[in-house]
Amino acid sequence: MKPHTCLRIVLILASMLLWWNLSWAQTPRAEREHTAQSLATLLNVGRLVVERNQPLINDPQKGDKGFTPEAFEHQVVEEFLRQTAIDLNRLPSDLPALEKIQLPLLLRASKEVVADAQFVINQRGIGYKNFIPATFGSQAARKFSNRSHVKIKQTALNPRNLKNLPDAYEEQILNRLAAQPVSHAPVTEWIDDGKLLRTLTPIYYSQDCLVCHGDPKGMLDISGYLREGAREGDLAGAISIQIPLNNP
Ligand code: HEC
Repeated sequence: MKPHTCLRIVLILASMLLWWNLSWAQTPRAEREHTAQSLATLLNVGRLVVERNQPLINDPQKGDKGFTPEAFEHQVVEEFLRQTAIDLNRLPSDLPALEKIQLPLLLRASKEVVADAQFVINQRGIGYKNFIPATFGSQAARKFSNRSHVKIKQTALNPRNLKNLPDAYEEQILNRLAAQPVSHAPVTEWIDDGKLLRTLTPIYYSQDCLVCHGDPKGMLDISGYLREGAREGDLAGAISIQIPLNNP
């Protein structure tokens, strides 16, 4: 074979590969999977920002904490940009159309949860206020899901908050994740004959969580729940997302 024929074949193959990649990236399924992943990351980032501000929120000496919805948003936008390279203030034009709608919706729901909690957060003379990553996450997920055909939920095998009880599908995946070594990769599946996307992004306990969820098992923690006796690295739960292939 002549060298230039060989080069042409390589070029044709390369352009076919590029075309295949681009068309794949634009399929409705791939777009929904990308959207689900970004939403799970955004809810997790909100939880992380609440966790970072926990000492401030729980400070009994201080009245006005300055942990306003705007301060929260600012920190979320920064952390989300760091984790995903997506700027929530200037969404990239090549983001899936669905994601461009859903990300701002979740950010708004999250901010509203922080706004609703201002009175509690700014109380003086009280340390623990039950405004923690889990209560934030449950409320933001619920607010968002009430307004969207996309559903987000924080769930666990034996949840403290019964509203977080897993459905049959979530229970099956959580059991599977609990039996596996730690992996932060989401479980992504199309069920109902490929018509419904379900993703579960696992959450694991770190050392910080064990004051409430760790030992001594069965003893009340500061939030008034019984400690689970969990260890660092145990599966705590998951962020569960459902997106239909076609909007209802
Ligand atoms: C101050 C005590 C406290 C700490 C610290 C804490 N949690 Fe929780 N956790 C709770 C409470 C209270 C709930 C129930 C929240 C609700 O009412 O929705 C909860 C609920 C959860 C849930 C949702 C499922 C359920 O049980 O309803 C997950 C997942 C969870 N926690 C994980 C964690 C992880 C991971 C950490 C550490 C990063 C952590 N928690 C730290 C008190 C705590």
